[in-house]
Amino acid sequence: TETRIKHIACIGAGYVGGPTMAVIAQKCPDIKVTVVDISRERIAEWNDSNLDNLPIYEPGLKEVVAEARGRNLFFCTDVEGAIREADMIFISVNTPTKTYGVGKGMAADLKYVELCARQIANVATGNKIVVEKSTLPVRTAQSIRTILDAESNGLQFQVLSNPEFLAEGTAVSDLLNPDRVLIGGSEEEGGQAAVRALVEIYARWVDRSKILTTNIWSSELSKLTANAFLAQRVSSINAISALCEKSGADVDEIARAIGMDSRIGPKFLKASVGFGGSCFQKDILNLVYIARSYGLTEVADYWEQVISMNDYQKRRFAENIVNRLFNTVSGKKIAIMGWAFKKDTNDTRESAAIYVADYLLNEQAELWVYDPKVKAERVYADLDYLNTRGEDENRKLVKVVRDPYEAMQGAHAVAVLTEWDEFKAYDWQRVYDDMKKPAFLFDGRNILDRNKVKALGFEFEAIGYRS
Ligand code: UDX
Ligand code: UDX
Ligand code: ADP
Repeated sequence: TETRIKHIACIGAGYVGGPTMAVIAQKCPDIKVTVVDISRERIAEWNDSNLDNLPIYEPGLKEVVAEARGRNLFFCTDVEGAIREADMIFISVNTPTKTYGVGKGMAADLKYVELCARQIANVATGNKIVVEKSTLPVRTAQSIRTILDAESNGLQFQVLSNPEFLAEGTAVSDLLNPDRVLIGGSEEEGGQAAVRALVEIYARWVDRSKILTTNIWSSELSKLTANAFLAQRVSSINAISALCEKSGADVDEIARAIGMDSRIGPKFLKASVGFGGSCFQKDILNLVYIARSYGLTEVADYWEQVISMNDYQKRRFAENIVNRLFNTVSGKKIAIMGWAFKKDTNDTRESAAIYVADYLLNEQAELWVYDPKVKAERVYADLDYLNTRGEDENRKLVKVVRDPYEAMQGAHAVAVLTEWDEFKAYDWQRVYDDMKKPAFLFDGRNILDRNKVKALGFEFEAIGYRS
């Protein structure tokens, strides 16, 4: 007897839960999908009749939501009601790095996940399949299972691990056309039946050869490993970029040359001011923490270097700005172009821009920030969260503007920190004419045409190449 899923609930309407459920609902019109969240505001935004007000900006997302919402896709705050109704429950709540106690700054804080597990056990009146979607440390599924079993009154719960590999900015196309879908479950028959039920959902639009099933620990560890490898590639090319700036080699030429080796491959070799995003640092810290907790010191130290290199890259970029501006930026206007951690998203979590800005603010620079998708409140909240200086001071020293030319007008320096396409199309002659001279331009993403901007008269610096 195969379980056929009729109702899905998803706890957590964030960057992962929202787009993933929208696509499942679009592809499975016969399954009712309810996405719940404790944040009323977030749910209201998901339900906004104006689709430009969705809480998350992703290319193609509003079209998917428009098709499914109200048909078989629902957003609400009734967590218990959704749990009761569902046969399958996805947990995609946030798992931030712990900010207190044991594992502070390293381990994942699982309190939201544990709360979900307890809530599911307490309100469920029938058997459920619980799917962990949030990225979690290895063996979390086991803890969820233990909590469910301890709290349940004879009900049957199955726990699956189904990590999400979508990248922000391409979430919808990654979901529609994934490289692979990974599902981990227990080897006993109940576990395998649950795995099959989830496979049948994805098989509606994903080729079966791309749906991998593994044991639950392999699935959990694969997710951390994939992100660690991706981040490692960025840190590796960034390490080489520092060497290029000294030696005269050109990092983009190197990336091209090594990327043509089919064993290395061309992707994820773009040198930058540093990786950001909610996953890379958090997942590596998790991996490091787990390795240390098993006494694997060398393994932990190895992966920790990926983060150290990233911190170094951000610091190096900011230091270079100060050095080039005659060792002082105090009172100088500097334009920060781009605040998101990469293009085509409004997400700023762990964005390199935050750390570069903080460094320059410590040097008393006056920052003018422009980002096409990030709101001013977000910029201030990111800086306030660091707690480096008071909220008033952040508002005094940082201006966020909606017009890129206003941000750059009269500036001593312009720093490009996100690779937004529109930056390439600016009238850089106009920018140059309106800036203080010498006009410094720092390209933290290597997106501008070097020869062109240098010909305009800019003092130009990019990552991984000697000016
Ligand atoms: C290497 C480079 O591949 C080649 O491009 C360069 O010109 C010279 O160095 P080689 O040393 O002949 O070539 O062997 P290679 O196949 O790269 O293997 C190197 C070592 O890595 C071997 O000991 C191999 O067993 C080991 N290895 C390789 C692994 O342990 N795991 C792998 O997945 C791949
Ligand atoms: C990442 C993984 O790609 C995804 O599979 C996982 O599910 C979540 O984490 P995401 O954080 O959305 O996705 O963005 P990604 O495109 O991986 O970029 C991460 C950071 O690395 C960005 O700041 C990006 O600018 C930077 N990066 C990426 C580089 O600096 N150079 C590159 O070559 C690639
Ligand atoms: P991710 O990038 O992993 O999707 P987000 O922070 O974007 O993370 O989304 C997680 C969402 O989970 C948030 O909107 C948060 O309000 C929600 N959430 C956290 N804990 C609970 C809970 N116990 N019940 C319902 N929603 C929750």
